[in-house]
Amino acid sequence: MKIINVVGARPNFIKIAPIHRALNKIDSVESLIVHTGQHYDERMSDIFFNQLELPKPDFYLGIGGGSHTHQKANVMLAFEKICNSEKPDVVLVVGDVNATAACSITAIKMGIRTVHVEAGLRSGDRDMPEEINRIITDAICDDLFITEHSGLINLAKEGVPDSKVHFVGNVMIDSLVYFRKKASYDGILNTLGLKPKKYILMTMHRPSNVDNVDSLNKILQIIRNACAHNNVVFPVHPRTENNLKKFNLWDKLSTINGLHIMGPQGYLQFLNLMDNALMIITDSGGIQEETTYLQVPCITFRSSTERPITVELGTNVLISELDVKEVDLQVQSILNGEHKTGVIPPLWDGDAATRIAKILVKKYN
Ligand code: UD1
Ligand code: UDP
Repeated sequence: MKIINVVGARPNFIKIAPIHRALNKIDSVESLIVHTGQHYDERMSDIFFNQLELPKPDFYLGIGGGSHTHQKANVMLAFEKICNSEKPDVVLVVGDVNATAACSITAIKMGIRTVHVEAGLRSGDRDMPEEINRIITDAICDDLFITEHSGLINLAKEGVPDSKVHFVGNVMIDSLVYFRKKASYDGILNTLGLKPKKYILMTMHRPSNVDNVDSLNKILQIIRNACAHNNVVFPVHPRTENNLKKFNLWDKLSTINGLHIMGPQGYLQFLNLMDNALMIITDSGGIQEETTYLQVPCITFRSSTERPITVELGTNVLISELDVKEVDLQVQSILNGEHKTGVIPPLWDGDAATRIAKILVKKYN
């Protein structure tokens, strides 16, 4: 069985690594990686291949950034050629980025079995570019691998037959479980002069939060307030850095006392930073799940989440509209030890990729 695994952006690398490892253990399976090149900087791409023990991609499409139409149309044209030459039995896509939707449409139209890992998640917010990618991908794929119970409900509501749906757990947590010990040997805390549980970690990259000046100003105020309580560590996503510079806010950010501002971090460094953080403030999808597993309090700047289990069972709290006062209250209550403790959701045990590989072999080998 020849499988093409598709990656495009940072969270995809973390999800594909355990799947590729599990597939590689099976003699009758050939597992290839296609990288669309949506994320291309060394620190947004190559570093993950090295740290996650992934081989170089078998095919690199080099599509880069640009509008959604530009990205998807170019990915589809380039991916069609690869499917024609490689004739895979299965195409596997993960998550909700542009590569996920573009490659699943291409493969399905070519009659190739196509499967979606991390299916069934819905925020209910169609203004999120990812929500459209999720809906398109789930509507057409042959098999849907889900991470949490809400996926079962969402897909049933959309009329997806049960036979297509497999509740297997969470491959992003597979990577966390696999690399947590190695990450703990990393020296980033010493380099930054930080002590465990004595700093707040922050990430921010959703267009709704970082593409307009009003939201960015609120984020700056939230950081100033947080720095009054504790050190804040902020690895800045390229979208966010570009916008802070565009709106002349970068210098204001850089001069905040107690703030460690830095570029995007490698997976091991970031995992170590998460594991030792007092709390995390974020708008990331994946980080809501990782903090739930690590049982680190998480404040998420979103009005909805496609990962409701992180609120129901985990440590996640949503705050919408970048409510500066509400965030400060939450930060203070976490500092006072009054926060959700949470439990680890079902099947988030490090073995999701092995379950996926078994199902694929049974159905398609
Ligand atoms: C993309 C995904 C988002 C995911 C995020 C993970 C979609 C619709 N969006 O958003 O779901 O949460 O990745 O981080 O697929 N840039 C660089 N270097 C890079 C990559 C990006 O400088 O290596 C800059 C470019 O200016 C680019 C901008 O960041 O235009 C945005 O990148 P893009 O991939 O379009 O969207 P993300 O915000 O990264
Ligand atoms: N991450 C990382 N370095 C960073 C920030 C995040 O390795 O500087 C990891 C994080 O641990 C998680 C993934 O990147 O595994 C989340 O990606 P991101 O927040 O970019 O995307 P999303 O999950 O929101 O789609």
